[in-house]
Formats: sequence, structure tokens, C-alpha cells
Amino acid sequence: MNISQQLGRLKRGFPRINRFPRFLILLVASIAAIQLFILPALTQQPVTVRFLVQALEGAQWQPFVEKFNAKNPDINLEIVAGPNDTNLVEDLYTSAFLLGDSPYDLVYMDIVWVPKFAAAGWLRALSDRVSQDKLSEFLQGDVDGGTYDGELYRMPLRSDGGMLYYRTDLLNQAGYEPPETFTDLVKISKDLQKQGIVDWGYVWQGKQYEGLSAMFVEILEGFGAFWVNPDTLEVGLDQPEAIQAVEFLRSTIEERVSPPGVTTYAEEETRRLFQSGKTVFLRNWPYVYSLASDSEIAGQFAIKPMVHTPDTKSGACLGGWGFGISKSSKHPDEAWRVIEYFSTPEAQKEYLLSTGYVPSRRSLFTDPELVAKYSYLPELLEVIEQSVLRPPIAQYAQASDILQRYLSAALTDRMSPEEAMQAAAKETRSLLGRTG
Ligand code: GLC
Repeated sequence: MNISQQLGRLKRGFPRINRFPRFLILLVASIAAIQLFILPALTQQPVTVRFLVQALEGAQWQPFVEKFNAKNPDINLEIVAGPNDTNLVEDLYTSAFLLGDSPYDLVYMDIVWVPKFAAAGWLRALSDRVSQDKLSEFLQGDVDGGTYDGELYRMPLRSDGGMLYYRTDLLNQAGYEPPETFTDLVKISKDLQKQGIVDWGYVWQGKQYEGLSAMFVEILEGFGAFWVNPDTLEVGLDQPEAIQAVEFLRSTIEERVSPPGVTTYAEEETRRLFQSGKTVFLRNWPYVYSLASDSEIAGQFAIKPMVHTPDTKSGACLGGWGFGISKSSKHPDEAWRVIEYFSTPEAQKEYLLSTGYVPSRRSLFTDPELVAKYSYLPELLEVIEQSVLRPPIAQYAQASDILQRYLSAALTDRMSPEEAMQAAAKETRSLLGRTG
């Protein structure tokens, strides 16, 4: 073997000698990196806490969720946007609970879902997590609406109450005061329509969905009628005043005070019609105020309590939303931290200032910054404190479904108001076990 052969062998040998330690070094380095950096990073992955929310509100939530996540790096709060109709969102939560192992840790709940979700055992009790003192800072109706069988299942976030919107400029132009009674409302509407000032008089939610029931309890109250007495389970839908309430709504369509399409409208369709300047009156929730203030009718409308008959008082349906924790959530403590964060006066105020939703905390109704933007808040507090409840019973979803079906049949002329309400009352009685 000459010298160059020896050198060649040496070169070939080199890598063989070197490869082993390099590989070893790499292995040791990788193990160290995994232990030092990757594993800790993996184990510190933020815990995801998720909730489902109506599409419109989902977009409004986004910046607040981002802010929460920035302040709480160990939690990844995530929203899933659902449909806009509250009962469709309720159906999605319901299917998730029925399938078991719900993907939602938090349950962002409409006030009317609480008895059903609590009775079904889908929610965790919250009473141990919050003191009575803290709860007393919220509206009593909102706390009661989150309570079932003496146990708290929902922390209120925002309240709600149906109101009457009216165009101040058009009423001034025609020399009218805002209406107090159903008769005033129809009279002013017809006059403004006749003068060609406006296409429609009054728009409301007439589609067959939960919003129809919410709107209808206000008309019932205005006629001195009721739906179900939650204490006695007595059903009032077939009483003469309740039938008159349906006749009133139907007459607004027949007399063309309301557009024929009103029987297909939910909140958003009616808001758009009002904002486009096509109607003088609108029944809706206060969220419309801030959105309409950015529209072509900005500064030309106001809100007031709903109209009624001369012998009764107006009724606002109590609505509102808050958070519960799903029974199957694997992260109830993190979910509670989210609730705590959004329950503070500061977080609520920020959310309400930007969205125009109604406070649940009493003090926020008179907060100077909120009142500067939403001047109706102090009056709304009184209205909401005397608001009308949809029956807080575990069978609420079915009872509402019955009412929506028959009301819709009467409004679209498939049944007379009397037939429809008699059938609705009968079915509701049998649902509640009061057939005798
Ligand atoms: C609003 C109310 C809610 C009600 C719903 C009806 O979101 O806050 O309580 O059920 O409207 O559409």
C-alpha cells in the first residue's frame, strides 16, 4: 500500500470515525432541546375555551375576545359564530349537549334557555363561585332569569327589553306627539302614509321564530292579556284580550300599516327597513339604536316604551344574555375566569359602549359616559325593571314553538285569530299537563 492509498483509506475512515460522535452530539442536543424548550412550550399550550354566539354579536365580540386573550396568555378564548335567530343557536347548543362531550365550555345563553338547559343537567351550578353581594349589583330580573330551582346557572352579561322606535323628524313634520296607544300608532301611521311621507307605518318581527313570541308578549301585555302564569301554569291565550292582541297585529297587515312581508321578518330585516327610512315606527331591541345612529336616519329617531290600550300599561319583553358553564367542559375554572373577566363593570361598560347593548349592572344605566351616548338608559332601567317575562318554565321551548306556529297561522290568514288562539291554548295546556 503506497502512501496515497494509505491516505485514501484514512480519508474514507475519517467520516466513519466522525459520523458517530456527530450523530451522538446531535441526538443529545435534540433531547436537550426537547426537554428544555419544546416540551415546556407544548405543556404550556393555552387552554381553549369556546362558545357559540349569534353571527351579528360574534363580529362584535371579536375585539373583546382578542383583548382577553392578550391579557390571559394561558387561555385561548374562541368564538364560533352561529345563525342570527336565537332559537337556531339554542338548537345547535342542544344538539351538542345531546351528542355528549359538547365542544362548548361556555354557554352564551338567552334568558329563555336557562330553565330547559338547567333542568336537563347540561349546566354547572355557579352559586358557589359568586357571592350574593356581587350578584346584588345586577338587575334582579336578570339574576332571577339565570336561576333555576334556587341555583344560579347563568351570570348576566347584558339585559334587553323591547321598545318602540319612532322617527322624530317625521312626527314633528306632521305635528304628532309620540303615540301612547295602539290606536294612536295606527292613526299616525295611516296619516303619514296617506300624505306620502313614508311607505310603511309600523314594522315588527312576524317571522315564525322566537322573536315572534318575544314581540307578542308585549302586545299581550298592552291588551291586558297573558300567555302562561308560571306559578299556576294557567294558560291565557284563548281569553278575549289575547285574541284582540292577535287581531291587532293582523289588522296592521290587512290595513297595510305593516308591509305584507312582515310575517317573514326577524330583528335584522326590520332594522334595515327602519334605517332605510321606509317606516315611521319599529318594534325592536335597544341594539338597533347604535347601528341606526350610523345610518341615514341618524339623529332623526328616538325610542320609547311600547304602546298599549288606554286602560293598560306598556310591557317590554325582558330579554338578555349571559354566560353559563357546560357540564361537560374539561376547563370549568378557565371558563369561570372568562365569566369573571366579562362580569367586571369595566369590561361590561367597554362592551356596551361599543355595541349599544343594555347593561345588566344597575350602576351602568346611569354611568355618565354610557348615558352621553345612549341617553335613553335611565328611562330604560325603569322599563326593564317592570318588564314582562316569557314563562320561565322548563318546557318553554315547546310552549314557544306552539305559540309561534298558531300565531303565524293567524297572521298569514290560514286560521282566524280566535281559532288559532284556541288551538294554541289547548296544545299548551296539554303540554303543561293541564288538560282538565
Ligand atoms: C333578543 C333578546 C332575547 C330574545 C331574542 C328574540 O336577542 O335578548 O332574549 O329571545 O331577541 O329574537
